[in-house]
Amino acid sequence: MTAIDFKRFFAKTTPIAPSPVQAMAKETAIVASHINLVYRNGGEEFNALQDVSLTVKSGEVHLLMGPSGSGKTTLLSILAGLLTPTRGQVNLLGEEITQLSRSRLAAFRLKHLGFVFQGFNLFPALTACENVEVAFHLKGVPQARKHAIELLDQVGLADRCNHRPQDLSGGQKQRVAIARALAGNPQIIMADEPTAALDSQNGHAIITLLRNLAKTSGRTVLIVTHDPRILDVADRVTDLEDGKVVTKAKLG
Ligand SMILES: Nc1ncnc2c1ncn2[C@@H]1O[C@H](COP(=O)(O)OP(=O)(O)OP(=O)(O)O)[C@@H](O)[C@H]1O
Ligand SMILES: [Mg+2]
Repeated sequence: MTAIDFKRFFAKTTPIAPSPVQAMAKETAIVASHINLVYRNGGEEFNALQDVSLTVKSGEVHLLMGPSGSGKTTLLSILAGLLTPTRGQVNLLGEEITQLSRSRLAAFRLKHLGFVFQGFNLFPALTACENVEVAFHLKGVPQARKHAIELLDQVGLADRCNHRPQDLSGGQKQRVAIARALAGNPQIIMADEPTAALDSQNGHAIITLLRNLAKTSGRTVLIVTHDPRILDVADRVTDLEDGKVVTKAKLG
């Protein structure tokens, strides 16, 4: 017998008051509680994250900073559901993603999350346009080509639509990766060093774009960065050192 999905059934028929968790999700987009991550290679163990807790409010530009090797990429990967923590929970938009099955997690990520990888992760055989287009196809958005061109235009790359990654500079690849992460207007955008390969003009354009996403369209933006220019647009900074949170600063 198929179980009835009461939540969906009621959502369609009767407006129900938001649960305390849903109400909280309106204000907090990301809550990570007591995250630990142990990397195991052969017989060796390495504690990459130790008891990391973090809250990111909706509409906030939040920076994760810290020296190389402090665990920033590891933490971002866990917050995005790309890596399972050894211990601890991650709640995104009111959903405990650490409790979701693989397929539900993949569907959740596709709908709500845009991710820019530190190494870009573009498909080498696809053009810039196709790399962005593929995200629209996966999300089932019609007119994928048209939307992909619009996003590439926003990041200043409309004239590179038909170039493959190997024919783009590092900064251009980075901007294609950012355009792809924005496809379908996800509620949360996570970016690992999104301005690292950019010169000052392009870096400034991307920083402004990320800030506008938060401030004018209410997206939540979490950025791993070493770039002091991003501090100007940040609401809050969490500093990591040796896998631990050392400071949480509110700016302004
Ligand atoms: N797969 C892995 N196996 C073992 N150790 C790992 C693995 N991935 C990362 N580490 C280690 O975990 C620590 C944190 O790595 P992480 O990539 O999260 O650092 P980071 O703060 O993003 O550094 P960077 O600023 O250089 O990108 C590092 O000491 C790294 O060597
Ligand atoms: Mg990193």
